[in-house]
Amino acid sequence: MNVITSNKIDIVKAETSKITSVDFDNLAFGLVFTDHMFLCDFKDGKWQKPQIMPYQAMSIEPSARVFHYGQAVFEGMKAYKDENDKVFLFRPDQNFERINKSSVRMAIPEFPKEYFFEGLETLLNLDKDWIKSGIDNSLYLRPFVIATEPAISASPANEYRFMIICSPAKAYYNEPVRVLFAEKYSRCADGGVGFAKAAGNYGAQFYPTNLAQKEGFQQIIWTDASTHDYLEEAGTMNIFFRIGDKLITAPNNDRILDGVTRKSVIQLAEDLGIECEVRRVSVTEIKEASRNGSLKEIFGAGTAAVISPVSAFGHNCEVFEIVENENSYAKLFKSTLLNIQHNLAEDKHGWRHEVI
Ligand code: COI
Repeated sequence: MNVITSNKIDIVKAETSKITSVDFDNLAFGLVFTDHMFLCDFKDGKWQKPQIMPYQAMSIEPSARVFHYGQAVFEGMKAYKDENDKVFLFRPDQNFERINKSSVRMAIPEFPKEYFFEGLETLLNLDKDWIKSGIDNSLYLRPFVIATEPAISASPANEYRFMIICSPAKAYYNEPVRVLFAEKYSRCADGGVGFAKAAGNYGAQFYPTNLAQKEGFQQIIWTDASTHDYLEEAGTMNIFFRIGDKLITAPNNDRILDGVTRKSVIQLAEDLGIECEVRRVSVTEIKEASRNGSLKEIFGAGTAAVISPVSAFGHNCEVFEIVENENSYAKLFKSTLLNIQHNLAEDKHGWRHEVI
């Protein structure tokens, strides 16, 4: 066993790597995991010394609160390798802040910044061969926290586990997506946990999304819970609409995830001289724009999804097709963003975080 003990992290290295068994040209999202994982337990009122160990199954008692009350939050981030084998993260400070914001909302203790960055950087150093260069490749990182205390009274746990697992990634969606505007179900409501990356926000979408899939749509665009009149976000990404040459996206609120890709697109729009309105956008406005031909595009923005164009939307038994635009903003934002992430373009906002 290859054990490295430092004063920061206890590391047990994998004896053999699984990397040779992986077909990096044919990766479905989130099915293959790298050789190592990071973990850190919270007990006796504090986060304990972090550890890195070979990726493996772990044992948790069936009474752990996460299984009963869903006390769990997560993040999605990516690492990129350039042609000189330098490895970068993209705006990791944003993920750090957001996981703690999500944790506070779910009554989970905040995780120390030093452990977060030390964990990510050490893990990426160990598993750097899993990050392939090239604009289509990245390593998806999934930090998460679960309530591990074996106790089933309905109250916050006294014990937690923070972990990071890593999965080599290509595109999340291989084709433009067809989306259904929500008319009955809701993702969240005012005062709820919609802004947080709480595990239950995602699980609660699966049933209505299954119903939408039976009608030929891959995703739902969630609308405000009280009227279903305003478009908010898709299950796996924030959403942008282009009417004429103007971009529109919903403002952040209690119900919408404060997406890192979303805020980067808003900044890039400003850099590129594209007008972007951050305001409420109604179902009626988008249907009218589609009917009068001014709706040019809809696209999603997210870490996993990057920039994913929408090819059609459905509402109230009608389907509205969106004609593919050769000079689409989706293509422009996607390439601009990927070039920054892969160290192929100037990083004027200091978004790249060099790791290796
Ligand atoms: C991400 O983009 O990182 C997400 O968390 C979306 C996910 C549910 C795949």
